[in-house]
Amino acid sequence: MSHERISILGLGAMGRALASALLEAGREVTLWNRTPGKAGGLVARGAREASSVEDAVGAGDLTVACLLDDASVRETLAPAMPKLAGRTLVNLTSGSVRQARELAGWLERYGVSLLAGGIMAVPPTVGTGGAFILYSGARDLFDRVAPVLAPIGRPHWVGEDPGFAALYDMAALSGMYGMGAGTDHAVALVHAEGGDVDTFKREVLQPWMEQMLPIMVAGADVSESVPDEYNPAMQATGLENILSASGEAGVPADLAGHLRASLWRMRRALAAR
Ligand SMILES: NC(=O)c1ccc[n+]([C@@H]2O[C@H](COP(=O)([O-])OP(=O)(O)OC[C@H]3O[C@@H](n4cnc5c(N)ncnc54)[C@H](OP(=O)(O)O)[C@@H]3O)[C@@H](O)[C@H]2O)c1
Repeated sequence: MSHERISILGLGAMGRALASALLEAGREVTLWNRTPGKAGGLVARGAREASSVEDAVGAGDLTVACLLDDASVRETLAPAMPKLAGRTLVNLTSGSVRQARELAGWLERYGVSLLAGGIMAVPPTVGTGGAFILYSGARDLFDRVAPVLAPIGRPHWVGEDPGFAALYDMAALSGMYGMGAGTDHAVALVHAEGGDVDTFKREVLQPWMEQMLPIMVAGADVSESVPDEYNPAMQATGLENILSASGEAGVPADLAGHLRASLWRMRRALAAR
């Protein structure tokens, strides 16, 4: 199986970006979307629009699903299962760990191999240097599929368990949203006290975040203890200062939830000493 002919189910913002990167790399691409009419520009670049899911699945050595959620994947694939039997599905639809494991079991009953995925990119960065794709499932399957799908982003295998791509995807997104909560809070504080948000972002927040990001990632920890060099007493005082500054500036308390979580961790560490 060459895995060079790829069928893509789903032409939302991400499905279109995936198709575009694969066409750019010279892959033979067949497209299907629930609502017709979204393949236009891609067809002009050489893709074929399938008339049905069965048609799409039958045309590809490899089928890639990039739909809204787990339910839409099941609903889309159900009528095409006989056609998909003996083939490979790469599911790049976001979902939970449990959903990925259950999907693998469901597909296995039909003789379909699943490589589960998590896209660590946004549509404009698909196919660019920073993009990478998490995959989980059988290692030999990953080894065969990875070179074929490499044009969408650097393939990175995270284990045999089909749930692991979703696990690492969700966890990484949690880190990102936490960072987003912090940066939203930062600019709200500057704005509320009359500072210039654009200047603050460019001259202070960006270089500060760049300096601290590797330290934050290295220091992320599941234990309740806080290493001595983090000095939890100093950290607790610092966090209280930021919370006070937020109160003085009238910045909504819910924007500071991430700070309260850190303060709680420092106080627990101090109490345990
Ligand atoms: N966009 C991002 O930044 C990003 C980043 C990483 C991962 N992802 C993941 O990639 C997946 C697709 O995201 P997207 O940005 O392309 O979303 P989107 O633009 O909202 O597109 C959703 C796609 O799912 C299809 N769909 C929805 N319900 C369906 C159903 N019941 N049956 C069949 N098809 C159905 C839609 O078809 P219609 O056109 O017919 O509505 C459309 O093709 C999601 O799981 C998302 O979490 C997205």
